[in-house]
Amino acid sequence: MWPSNPPCYKDKVGKYAEATHVLHKQLIEAISESLGLEKDYLQEQTEEGSQVMAVNCYPACPEPEITLGMPPHSDFGSLTILLQSSQGLQIMDSNKNWISVPYIEGALIVQLGDQVEVMSNGIYKSVIHRVTVNKDYKRLSFASLHSLPLHKRISPAPELVGNNAPAYGEFSFNDFLDYISSNDCVQQRFIDTLKKSNS
Ligand code: OGA
Ligand code: NI
Repeated sequence: MWPSNPPCYKDKVGKYAEATHVLHKQLIEAISESLGLEKDYLQEQTEEGSQVMAVNCYPACPEPEITLGMPPHSDFGSLTILLQSSQGLQIMDSNKNWISVPYIEGALIVQLGDQVEVMSNGIYKSVIHRVTVNKDYKRLSFASLHSLPLHKRISPAPELVGNNAPAYGEFSFNDFLDYISSNDCVQQRFIDTLKKSNS
C-alpha cells in the first residue's frame, strides 16, 4: 500500500527498499562468514524473509528532558538498516550507558536484531536502542526492518553450539507476537525469555 502523495514517494522509497534488501543480504552473508559459517548459511531464509519500512516522524518537543521518541528496545528481526535526518538515536553500551549515534549525512546505521543474536548463539548481541527528541526541529527516520521468514523457527546454528547446550531456545515470529501482546508494559525483553539459565 503506497501513499499517493508525494507522487515521487512510491518510486523513490520503492528503489530504496530494493537497495536495502540487497544490502541486507550482503550483510547477512558477511555476518555468516565472520561466524565461520558458510556464506549462504541463511540464504534461503533471507530470500524468503520479510521487510518492513517504518518511517518515523518525531516532532520538535517542548520538554525533551522528560520525553522519549521511542522507549528502549531491541529489534526483533535480523538487521535494521536506518537512515536518520538528524541525531536522536542512542544505543546502550556494555556498561549500560546511553551513547548517541552521531549524525553523518547519508550514512546508514545497521543494528543487529534478536534473530541474529539467537542464530549466532549469543556471539553477536542485539543492540538496545532508544530515540530522544529535541525542542528545535522535527526528526525523520527510515527504518528498514529485515526479518528471516516469519513462520520459521529460529535457533542457534548447530555449528556454533558444538557439544554444549544451546544458549537460547528456538522461537518464531508468533512466539514474539504472543509475548508482546500479553505483556502490556514490557519489563523484560522477549529475547531474555529465550536465554537458558546456564548461559
Ligand atoms: C525502530 C527504531 C529508530 C529511529 O523503528 O525500531 O528503533 O531512529 N527506530 O527512529
Ligand atoms: Ni528499533
